[in-house]
Amino acid sequence: MQALKDGLLMNIFTRYILVPFLLATAGPFVLPASAQDIVVGEFASLTGSEATFGVNSSNGVELAKEEINNAGGLLGGRKIKIVMEDDQSKPGQPSAAVKKLVASDNAIAIVGEIASSRSLEAAPICQNAKIPMISPGSTNPSVTEKGDYIFRVCFIDPFQGTVMAKFALDNLHAKKIAILQDVKSDYSKGLAQFFKEYFTSHGGQIVTDLSYTGGGTDKDFRAQLTKIKTGQPDAIFIPGYYTEAGLIAKQARSLGIKVPLLGGDGWDSPKLTEIGGAALDGCYFSTHFSVQDKNPKVQDFVKKYQAKFHALPDGMAPLGYDAMMILGQAINTAGSTDGTKIRDALASVKDYPGVTGNITIDEKRNAKKAAVVLEVKGSKANFVASVPP
Ligand code: PHE
Repeated sequence: MQALKDGLLMNIFTRYILVPFLLATAGPFVLPASAQDIVVGEFASLTGSEATFGVNSSNGVELAKEEINNAGGLLGGRKIKIVMEDDQSKPGQPSAAVKKLVASDNAIAIVGEIASSRSLEAAPICQNAKIPMISPGSTNPSVTEKGDYIFRVCFIDPFQGTVMAKFALDNLHAKKIAILQDVKSDYSKGLAQFFKEYFTSHGGQIVTDLSYTGGGTDKDFRAQLTKIKTGQPDAIFIPGYYTEAGLIAKQARSLGIKVPLLGGDGWDSPKLTEIGGAALDGCYFSTHFSVQDKNPKVQDFVKKYQAKFHALPDGMAPLGYDAMMILGQAINTAGSTDGTKIRDALASVKDYPGVTGNITIDEKRNAKKAAVVLEVKGSKANFVASVPP
């Protein structure tokens, strides 16, 4: 009887005193993950010059994780736990972040990054550790060439460069183009090159080709723009990120440059028009997704995203969502959290109906998908065309 009483007291003590005390003092953030949880690491630029890339892609990842967990989790009821590292949009941070995620957090897979240079920096760490890495938005071809554990759910820049060069030639009837590229970005340098190759081999001419230092370093582009103006281009291709693109647009207009400015997916940010304002009206960029797409899958995503984050999604958000969804599916297909088995499952993804289009992982671990071209008007980016792969 005494033993029973002691047991009961112990039980009451544990349930009503010890556990609440531990919860209150430790706080929810340092509670250890349940042994059952599946830990997925994510690295993204939550702060710094490309902060909207990281914030919006991780919103997409979060939405997918919630849906998977609410539907019962993976591998027969295990929940996904995301461990997030902010790389601050800075070189050097991605490798530190991914080393930590792999070595200390025991992440079984990594989602990230958006910017190609940061994916390129972290990919060898995942490859060596045999931990699959899946990039939502890095479009430079060399990212997935880092090894057979490195995947992406987006198209690559030889395609994107062709899309914009063709658009300049066929839709804008541009014959002479000036290029202003970011020397600090593998994405920018690659996209400039692929654009140039198609444009010049189809009758166009690059009249001026200049550069700047991105990542929030250069803020004054008037010296380059003054030179560009003397070349009298029909349009200017600026394959950089939104912070610089917005400033370049403003300064171009202040120097009396009136021709359309063209960009790639690096322009896709709600901050673009906050920075560039009316200077961007009548400018075009290519990206992965349009909120104006009538496809029910897209509209359903837009609704869910708005309900949770009280904002319209840009291209990054559905890419993050698709990346996490495909990873979840691959973990289930693998039937295991083993890196090599997940890699094999990712490599065999076929016709997955993503928000950003149908995703088939090809033999180079890339996804062949359509691109959209958007036109900036006011604070909006309006759908102009969809270009199949
Ligand atoms: N494609 C860009 C890069 O490789 C990143 C990006 C993806 C930006 C999607 C916007 C939207 O660096």
